[in-house]
Amino acid sequence: MAEETTPARTDGSGNGSGSLDPDIVRRFHFTREMVNGPVYRKYKFAIDRVWNVDDLDFAQDAADWERITPEQREGLLGVTVRFLAGEQAVTDELVPMIAASHALGRFDWVTYLSTFLMEEAKHAEFFMRWHSEVAGVLEPEEVARHFLVRGATVDPSGRFEVRDVLHEALPRYGKALLEASMAGDSDEIERAFVRFSAAYNAFVEGVLTMPSYEIVIDTTKLWGAFPALREGFRLILMDEGRHITFGTGACKVLIEGNPELESVVHEVFDAYRGNVVGLVEYQKAVPGLEVQKYQDQKVRHYRNRCREMGITPDQELIDQILDPEIDFVVGHQAG
Ligand SMILES: [Fe+2]
Ligand SMILES: [Fe+2]
Repeated sequence: MAEETTPARTDGSGNGSGSLDPDIVRRFHFTREMVNGPVYRKYKFAIDRVWNVDDLDFAQDAADWERITPEQREGLLGVTVRFLAGEQAVTDELVPMIAASHALGRFDWVTYLSTFLMEEAKHAEFFMRWHSEVAGVLEPEEVARHFLVRGATVDPSGRFEVRDVLHEALPRYGKALLEASMAGDSDEIERAFVRFSAAYNAFVEGVLTMPSYEIVIDTTKLWGAFPALREGFRLILMDEGRHITFGTGACKVLIEGNPELESVVHEVFDAYRGNVVGLVEYQKAVPGLEVQKYQDQKVRHYRNRCREMGITPDQELIDQILDPEIDFVVGHQAG
């Protein structure tokens, strides 16, 4: 293109010490500070650790599927199908975060998020392949039958409402973030970014799904079965660690710039309090799993996320998660 041949230097010399055209300088984003910074390092880690679903062998899992009982199959699918939907949802809902990073001029965030999006697509691919090759289901109508509906969950005490943070909050907060990014008001973008990232990286990835990974891994050990499922979860968890700490690190930067944004994080956790206080479906469904372990884990992860964001944990939320009296099961199928 003709414009690309214009010399960057306004003095026309192409070198030397003349003043630079700022419009041309703005076309370049790498800086020494960025390439030595924590987010770019995360990008390099991700590139160095790329794995391929094709390298996993599903044959033993398929053989194990044949020997477990129909009840065990249905119980396991209740969790894995939720991951299959969840990984597709997070793949599909990441664009607002990329758009916002661009709008905020954070090229290091955009660069890292390129690996994040690829990894979420690969996690979705892993679950698609496992369901297809092990359980023999793939089409939406085949897998949807096994999806436990969160709306069917009722807290018998009536104190907590259970909503769907993944499939309800992420699209809503994501739309607001995308709209703010297009409008270009950086205060509003930052506020919407913290809200979205608190829901996506801190709540969903960083607290809510952590015990679910453990439950599936523990179940495969308990049954002595499904080595590919276990290996897939292990690989996914390595990626998730980067996703979570990217989001909480970004929130920390934004909250340090505007301490009022801490309240945005608490509002998100408060809106979906029932989901994190209740037990994960399946926690009670598999005999031999230790229920309290997963509640303790949620508290540990919640404290870690707050520390990474540089905010004060909500002690009441911690007390409620640990309260043995509050033991309703989130996502348990009605009837
Ligand atoms: Fe994922
Ligand atoms: Fe993730």
